[in-house]
Parts: sequence; C-alpha cells; structure tokens
Amino acid sequence: MYELCPETPADTPEVEALYDLCFAPGRTALSSYRLRDGVPPVSELCLMLRNEADAVTAAIRYWPVRVGDALVLLLGPVAVHPIAQGEGLGGYLMRESLHRAEAMGWARVMLVGDAPYYKRFGFTKLEGVEMPPPTNPDRVLGLELQPGAWVDVRGAVTRETHPDVLAGLAEIGQTPSLRASCKPVAFIEGEPRAALRSETAAERQRTEAATHDRDKTRKA
Ligand SMILES: CC(C)(COP(=O)(O)OP(=O)(O)OC[C@H]1O[C@@H](n2cnc3c(N)ncnc32)[C@H](O)[C@@H]1OP(=O)(O)O)[C@@H](O)C(=O)NCCC(=O)NCCS
Repeated sequence: MYELCPETPADTPEVEALYDLCFAPGRTALSSYRLRDGVPPVSELCLMLRNEADAVTAAIRYWPVRVGDALVLLLGPVAVHPIAQGEGLGGYLMRESLHRAEAMGWARVMLVGDAPYYKRFGFTKLEGVEMPPPTNPDRVLGLELQPGAWVDVRGAVTRETHPDVLAGLAEIGQTPSLRASCKPVAFIEGEPRAALRSETAAERQRTEAATHDRDKTRKA
C-alpha cells in the first residue's frame, strides 16, 4: 500500500534527495531549472507516493512557464526510487497528476524527456517550441489537455513572470490543509500495475459507471 500526498515544504528535503538519487549529479544545472528559478511550483500537482515505511518512493512536480503568450505547465522532474522502478508508480503519478491538471483547467503540458516513455501518456514532439539551450529538440514533448491547445503555440519557453499567476501559486503553496488530502493507493500483491492504473479518477469513474450499468442489467 502506498499513500498519495501533495508535496508540502516539509517534504521538500526528502523529495530533493530522491531526485538526487535518480538523476545524474549536476541536475540543477540543466537549462530547464532556470525556468523554475524564483517561480513557485503548481503545488496541487506536486505529488508523492510514500511507502509503508513512510519513505518517499516516487515524486512528480510541475511549474508554470510561458511559450509566447501562452501559459503552459512544465512537467518534471518525475522520478521513482530505483528499488521500485518498473512497478507502475511513475505511470500512476503521471496519469493522476495529468487528470488533476485537466480538472483544474490547464490547457497544455510540456516536458523534456524520453519520447519512448512519455508517448504512452499521449506526449508528442513539439514543433517550434524552443527550450533554453542546450536542449535536444527531439526531447521537447507536449500534450493537449484541451483540444487544439498547442495549435499555433510557438516560440521560446520562458519563465512565468505574470504577477497574478505568481501570487496565486504562492498562496496555494502556503495552504497547510494540503497535507490532509492524502489518499491510500491500493496495491494488489503481484499485480501492482493493474491496481495502480485503475486508481486514477477518470478510470475509477468509468469502472463505477460500468458496475452500476451491470447491476442495473442484472436487476432488470
Ligand atoms: C522514468 C521513470 C519515472 C518511470 O517510472 P517507473 O515507475 O519506473 O515506470 P512505470 O512502471 O510506470 O513504467 C515502466 C515502463 O516504462 C518503460 N520506461 C521506463 N523508463 C523509460 C525510458 N527512459 N524510456 C523508455 N521507456 C522507459 C519501462 O521499460 C517499462 O516499459 P513496459 O511497460 O513496456 O514494460 C523512472 O524509471 C525513473 O525515475 N527513472 C530515473 C529518472 C528519470 O529518468 N526520470 C524521467 C526524466 S524527467
């Protein structure tokens, strides 16, 4: 069993330690980190999975950025502790956070990463979207949360500087009740992936609707 929790400031040292373990030394020298400097993350979407020993086993973070005039979610870093990689935790955090982003009204997401991994979530190469160098353009990927959200969005990726957006994000980050919104994530021994996948909000809704329909058919 894991517990899914939003990351709070108290969790940050543990999450940073996980990222240090999972990524090459000097990760914060990457150009994508300059886009995060001095900008609050999107707290509702920064999620962690704690294991039964209460250790942070997986984590994902998001920041706001601009591409041209458009507001964009920058996904990353996402990492899973080496002892738990390949069990579906990364996929679970991706899907859960993307469902939440969609529910919050975010239109588009981008990341810098391996297309062979991220294409399973619907990410494709972005044309004409330029990360600060040096970034391999083949690794600049995007996903539409609203139809057509990436159409005609082109240009350099820049830091979010809009005062209203920054003030809103900072306010959310200081909300102490965030920690209360943890939830257990079912883990069926031997079938972690199936169990974790079926936990996302949209999938749970679909399963509940199907069960309801089946029960109605049986009663009829
Ligand atoms: C990449 C990462 C987040 C994936 O999380 P995970 O929980 O291990 O992955 P999942 O269990 O959800 O998915 C496993 C699948 O992803 C594939 N996969 C994992 N990393 C991959 C990569 N870099 N490229 C292509 N496929 C990859 C596995 O081969 C496996 O494929 P399968 O489903 O066909 O068997 C995790 O392995 C990790 O933290 N790696 C080190 C840090 C990193 O590279 N982070 C991403 C860059 S921002």
